[in-house]
Amino acid sequence: MKTQSAAESLQERRRAVDRELERLLEGESRLFEALRYAVLSGGKRFRPLLLLAAGEAFGGSPESLIPYACALELIHDYSLVHDDLPCMDNDDVRRGRPSCHKAFGDGLALLAGDALLTMAFETLANASAEAVGPARKEYAVREIARAAGVRGMIGGQWLDIGRPAPEIDGSVYDELIAKKTGALILAAARAGAVLGSADARGLAAMERYGNGIGRAFQLRDDLLDSKDDGKNGGPVRPNAVAVFGLEGTKNRLFESVDRALQALREVSLHPDELRELAEGLLRFDKDGAHG
Ligand code: IPE
Ligand code: IPE
Ligand code: MG
Repeated sequence: MKTQSAAESLQERRRAVDRELERLLEGESRLFEALRYAVLSGGKRFRPLLLLAAGEAFGGSPESLIPYACALELIHDYSLVHDDLPCMDNDDVRRGRPSCHKAFGDGLALLAGDALLTMAFETLANASAEAVGPARKEYAVREIARAAGVRGMIGGQWLDIGRPAPEIDGSVYDELIAKKTGALILAAARAGAVLGSADARGLAAMERYGNGIGRAFQLRDDLLDSKDDGKNGGPVRPNAVAVFGLEGTKNRLFESVDRALQALREVSLHPDELRELAEGLLRFDKDGAHG
């Protein structure tokens, strides 16, 4: 029997995540339409795939991990809806089509974001504690909540809008991306590992891995954005290429992925999907990062 490649298994997991998101987002109103528009619109699903890969690497079952994976995607998608609003990045296009507020209006987009964030925590509350053990569930919920909030993603978004781009130096930039993008990615790696029963050594390795790919993820996004300047009429946001230069940004991207891969080699688990997720960040073709 042909064994499944890591890329194929990620595709299969991605379909399972999408099926569950479709189920969660069933509903009749225009508000539900806006939620579906924001979520079921072809994102890479990087964070849920990462949580699933981390959990399964330590023996977790996909079924027990799916609610946590979906919660992460709902939080991520809410953050994109709000990030695109005129009072934030004022972006008219998201995932190749009009952003949520362009399609549904500012008020509905604001509420859609609120509803997605709230649904994420409802989904976590509904996840079976027996399937993973109450202590592991509690760890995962706390980790995801912290990463989404003022000490994580929202704190990073505040740094992002809080000062003009020319004031951003390397250390501010590092803090900004560690919070804005890195926190949720690190939470996916940590929560996945703990839900899958990682021991302290495994968790420490997954933290190094999560930090590496979290950083790499935003460096890659900044490289892609820098090729796409003038895509919106909004303010110029901090970008790694402006801070470190093109070569400096590429070098940092390679270093960060390398650090993540190094961490995987330190624990003997089933790292194929985790390796594939990290290596995808170095590919800029259409399959890169599973986009
Ligand atoms: C875009 O995230 C915003 C960042 C945090 C860099 P993704 O690149 O994961 O966006 P989708 O979900 O694939 O559209
Ligand atoms: C978005 O970051 C990060 C969050 C929504 C938390 P960016 O503003 O850099 O990403 P894009 O370019 O809008 O996808
Ligand atoms: Mg933006």
